Amino acid sequence: MILVTGGAGFIGANFVRDWLDGSDEPVINLDALTYAGNLENLAALKADDRHVFVQGNICDRPLLDELLVRHRPRAILHFAAESHVDRSIQGPSAFVRTNVEGTFSLLEAARAYWQGLEGDARRSFRFLHVSTDEVYGSLGPQDPPFAETKAYEPNSPYSASKAASDHLVRAWHHTYGLPVLTTNCSNNYGPFQFPEKLIPLMITRALAGEPLPVYGDGMNVRDWLYVGDHCAGLRAVLAGGVPGETYNIGGWNEKPNIEIVHTICALLDELRPSSDGSHARLITYVSDRPGHDRRYAIDARKIEHRLGWRPTETFETGIRKTVAWYLDSQDWVKNVVSGAYRQWCTSQYGND
Ligand code: NAD
Ligand code: TYD
Repeated sequence: MILVTGGAGFIGANFVRDWLDGSDEPVINLDALTYAGNLENLAALKADDRHVFVQGNICDRPLLDELLVRHRPRAILHFAAESHVDRSIQGPSAFVRTNVEGTFSLLEAARAYWQGLEGDARRSFRFLHVSTDEVYGSLGPQDPPFAETKAYEPNSPYSASKAASDHLVRAWHHTYGLPVLTTNCSNNYGPFQFPEKLIPLMITRALAGEPLPVYGDGMNVRDWLYVGDHCAGLRAVLAGGVPGETYNIGGWNEKPNIEIVHTICALLDELRPSSDGSHARLITYVSDRPGHDRRYAIDARKIEHRLGWRPTETFETGIRKTVAWYLDSQDWVKNVVSGAYRQWCTSQYGND
């Protein structure tokens, strides 16, 4: 079996669901259920005994030791993190606690467990650390996309905490020989993404007739990847990645934010027309995010050439599926958009 951390969040839940669609290998899913974790993301697995959910914190070392000894996983896939840049600007301490201290505690538990394994179990054990392209910093318009050899230049409290965790993972391989794999992926989108991130935020606010807050001039560029393609990339790295190496995962799909927002508005105009006119009327330019990275882009040639992975969705197919999923999943949206979410929107965007 495998142990997944953070499997009630956006990417983790997609990963667990896809994993059990394609394999009978059981999953232990450890998640603290912060505001970003939601058991409704896993509702389809309620009666599935291949999925064991444990509510708990990756900083809780005795719990980690107990889970590892009891379930004896062949791999750990580490998704759990505080993941939202704007929240890291408002309150960085949770990011240091979970992303740095939590990863440290998981690495130490994994090391103790792995050192007690023997033979094939020890040889084949893997610790896969799920990270982000944001650790590489910001690109100028003419710079080549991030390769795995790019120096780390994190700029936000979020990316700095993820960079720190990547460095710990690297050191646990170099010093102790722990068989780690690190992936650095670009911006994901798709079903079950909490509506604080750009794409689901814009879809849910447009449906509610609320202003669509575009930071700065709207020309910051991100490289978007459909979440199912990220999950397939992680499976490829787990199966064939070389311990100690890192793999960038991206969709070759750079787009400025304003183009993303216009695409969402056009899809909503088609699928759920508003009697007040195009949803694009709601676009509102607001103050820029402090330290806002201008451009991210991933050079995904290593994972493509060495592991044969390629994205299957284009942005056009992926964003259409995503908008349709949010339209069909209004109950899910209503349930995650709690009082705490409203408070976040008020503190981030003011009263609209
Ligand atoms: P998310 O915020 O949607 O989910 C994070 C999950 O981790 C939640 O279920 C939360 O409850 C859980 N969690 C948080 N702190 C925890 C703790 N201390 N102990 C146990 N569980 C805890 O995040 P996501 O978007 O699914 O991202 C998952 C991982 O992928 C993160 O490591 C993130 O850095 C990385 N990543 C995300 C993106 C993206 O675009 N979302 C891109 C590249 C990499
Ligand atoms: P986000 O989804 O927060 O991902 P990240 O900052 O990790 O890349 O934001 C994606 C881009 O969208 C980023 O350039 C910031 C911008 N953005 C807005 O313009 N308005 C918003 O309300 C949000 C949340 C993001």
